[in-house]
Amino acid sequence: MKLKVSVIGTGYLGATHAACMSSLGFEVIGVDVDAAKIELLTAGRVPFYEPGLEDLLQKEIASGRLTFTTDLRAIADVDVHFICVGTPQQPNSLAADLTYVDAALDAVAANCKPGSLVVGKSTVPVGTAARLRERLLKINPKADLAWNPEFLREGFAVEDTLHPNRLVVGVTNDAAENKLKEIYASNLAENTPWVRADLPTSELVKVAANSFLATKISFINAMAEVCEAAGGDVTVLAKAIGYDPRIGSRFLQAGIGFGGGCLPKDIRAFMARAGELGADQALEFLREIDSINLRARQRVIELVRKDLSDNLAGKKIAVLGAAFKPDSDDVRDSPALDIAAQIAAAGAVVTIHDPKAIAPAKKRFPALGFSEDIEGALKGADLVLHLTEWKVYRELDPAKMAKLVANPIMIDGRNALDREAWIAAGWKFRALGRAN
Ligand code: UDX
Repeated sequence: MKLKVSVIGTGYLGATHAACMSSLGFEVIGVDVDAAKIELLTAGRVPFYEPGLEDLLQKEIASGRLTFTTDLRAIADVDVHFICVGTPQQPNSLAADLTYVDAALDAVAANCKPGSLVVGKSTVPVGTAARLRERLLKINPKADLAWNPEFLREGFAVEDTLHPNRLVVGVTNDAAENKLKEIYASNLAENTPWVRADLPTSELVKVAANSFLATKISFINAMAEVCEAAGGDVTVLAKAIGYDPRIGSRFLQAGIGFGGGCLPKDIRAFMARAGELGADQALEFLREIDSINLRARQRVIELVRKDLSDNLAGKKIAVLGAAFKPDSDDVRDSPALDIAAQIAAAGAVVTIHDPKAIAPAKKRFPALGFSEDIEGALKGADLVLHLTEWKVYRELDPAKMAKLVANPIMIDGRNALDREAWIAAGWKFRALGRAN
């Protein structure tokens, strides 16, 4: 008999995890307090853009293995409960808000059967899992809790969930590990590396990985600042250092920096937690990583001013991209949208295009201008900003685009466009970290 699975919290992580677990043959119940979200998912619709997820969801619902509900009583005979709720940054501090995780644990503890395993997947401050386990055992002494961090990237969520590059399980005993081995049998058959850890280490693995990635991006953006000052080219520098396998070429794309629902909040929550533990000095460098990252946004705005004028009032600026990265409609802490909002606040007339993120961007900044087509955004523009590296922007014909704008000035905030092609078509081309 295959284990029965529940997924508590059906946001980005939970909806993807539920559909993927079902595709592995498990009977899965997705639970959320948001009735509207459950209704959408039940109808086979995904409330955000993630390539491949909606097709998979519909297939799994049709198979009869995957259902969604707001009623926690439905999890009474489930064997393994995955907690996938969000841990956003608190409004007035760097720390993570654990309200949803605590509520989910209480709800599961009150409804799960003895012998079942609760598995946390949310990103939490170290020490949370041990605290939640204690709480669970008080309410339901025959249940157990493990931690199993998730490393999925938006845009590759299905692939990363079905074929992760490693599985990390924080457990306190063999029985919990064995149950997780049953859940991840297909990955073990593919020889996916399996790391057994204690609870605190498993929680730390996630924030350490995201801190490393953030550091790599801010490192190359710091090099971009030096390249600009010295007349160098950061794209060539990144290529050259990336050939060293100890460094590696990935995550060395200089530009306007990282955003999204994970990297920024995770490094901040990590610093806050280290402070509580008396280890704040160890993570002091993350403060610098954060400020290099935020500085990249200001550097683009400086380039805009340099090319147009210190006074941006009335200048028409086209912004290509609003999502925090391509293949996503997520605008949480999006550097692109932040820059667009800042130049609009400085008086510029901004028109934003994005292949998928216009609706969420509009919801956040209703006063900004938006265009459903690229031509509409570029028409009459004094300057164009390329801020999210969608493939459609790389495929633009620079000569055709030059005819639309008032001034052919392109600032490539992602170092992703073919500079020579744009210059050949008559554009003044600027980019971060390259001689401007
Ligand atoms: C990240 C982690 O990669 C993932 O493992 C974790 O589970 C969640 O957080 P995600 O937020 O989907 O995933 O985005 P990621 O692909 O890591 O990109 C983060 C940000 O960094 C984006 O804004 C991206 O544009 C930026 N970035 C990435 C760069 O600026 N340069 C790079 O070289 C790479």
